[in-house]
Amino acid sequence: MMAEALLISAAALCRTSNQTTLSTTTTIMGLLKLATLSIILPATSYFCILGLLIAFPSLQTHAFYLHRVSLTWFKDLNVPEAFGFLPNQVKSFSIQTSDGEKLHAWHVLPLGVYSRNQEHLLAAPSGSDLALKLLRDDPESRLVIYFHGTAGCLASGWRPDSYRGISSASPDKIHVLTADYRGYGQSTGMPSEDGLLLDGIAMVDWAIHQAGIPASRIVIFGQSLGTAVAISLIRHYASEIPAVSFSGTVLVASFSDVATLTATYRIGGVIPVLSPLSRVPPLLAFFNSFLRSTWMSKDRIGEFIRRSESDAIAQKYHLTFIHAEDDTDIDCLHTDVLFWHAVNATKSIGIGYEELEHEKQLMKKEWGSGGWTVEWRTDKGLIRQEMLKYGVHDRLMAYPATSLAILKAFQATDPGFGR
Ligand SMILES: *[C@@H]1O[C@H](CO)[C@@H](O)[C@H](O)[C@H]1NC(C)=O
Repeated sequence: MMAEALLISAAALCRTSNQTTLSTTTTIMGLLKLATLSIILPATSYFCILGLLIAFPSLQTHAFYLHRVSLTWFKDLNVPEAFGFLPNQVKSFSIQTSDGEKLHAWHVLPLGVYSRNQEHLLAAPSGSDLALKLLRDDPESRLVIYFHGTAGCLASGWRPDSYRGISSASPDKIHVLTADYRGYGQSTGMPSEDGLLLDGIAMVDWAIHQAGIPASRIVIFGQSLGTAVAISLIRHYASEIPAVSFSGTVLVASFSDVATLTATYRIGGVIPVLSPLSRVPPLLAFFNSFLRSTWMSKDRIGEFIRRSESDAIAQKYHLTFIHAEDDTDIDCLHTDVLFWHAVNATKSIGIGYEELEHEKQLMKKEWGSGGWTVEWRTDKGLIRQEMLKYGVHDRLMAYPATSLAILKAFQATDPGFGR
């Protein structure tokens, strides 16, 4: 439509230039052609791609989850040494989901546990369950269940650095369990919103039943897409009877829901998704009505908080949102929105967005170049928002700010932990 309008106005311009001399006309015509081509071509291909995404839902799945973009070409995911780990520091294994998918998982040992058991670990035959024993047999061990972002796999980008960073807050105790969702890396199946929740449940089941770690010694961590999986998961467990509540949850670079995300997301911080349409709300709504995955985190976080604030849950909740102000993939406003939905759910009459932003100005602790934090406390729990000045979309998950937030989440159930 946009392309047609441009064509029509270009043709009109050409017609009015009839009176001018031949040479000027040719030059203007040439320039116009060039100009229209450079606008029409990208615009047409953009709308063609949107059309294809609507017509072929599986293409949309690929475009959103990017699960086939491995980002670890020519490396074997069963060789964690290739990603900077010590021999047998990572146990590579698989977890079955309730609907028959097989997830490729890593159990990452913290450095302190590794160094104390290095000889045994090096001597252990492949397939040994020594790593699992080291986690299970220490009544003080802690586990972070890690939900990674879209694209790539459990070994790509900053993820291995992030597993190491997380353990560094208490290198004798904090283990990490990470896995590729269905369809990612070596895991079977195709990603979907329901499917990824089942994957999360399978990981929690492994932690509680295979590794024997109670929820009070587990922190749920998510980054980017992983925040949506994490929120869906904690909401699920909060509505179980009896409710299961984890020591805490840390969410890095969250998004409020897919519709808002596509209106603001830029792939690699550059290529817009639906933001060109966001100026035409009906058009945007039209495209959004074809979304297969909506990931309504803003509603789910409200449900989680309402449930946790009710008497149904005995344990306190502990929720941290972290976002970097220089994140060009997902705007940090998404975290403001999620924090608002969470806080709103603690109040029986709710609170307006602007009103809360005003209160936040008064409560804010400023850390200069380190950003700022706001903490919202109730009798039943704590909601923290940490805004970093630096950290972009993914580097911050390997930063000490993230490791410390996870340590605090463990201290929610054991104030002496790591001190
Ligand atoms: C805020 O809470 C109130 C009261 O529970 C609710 O009616 C309202 O829908 C909530 N608003 C948002 C944006 O979640």
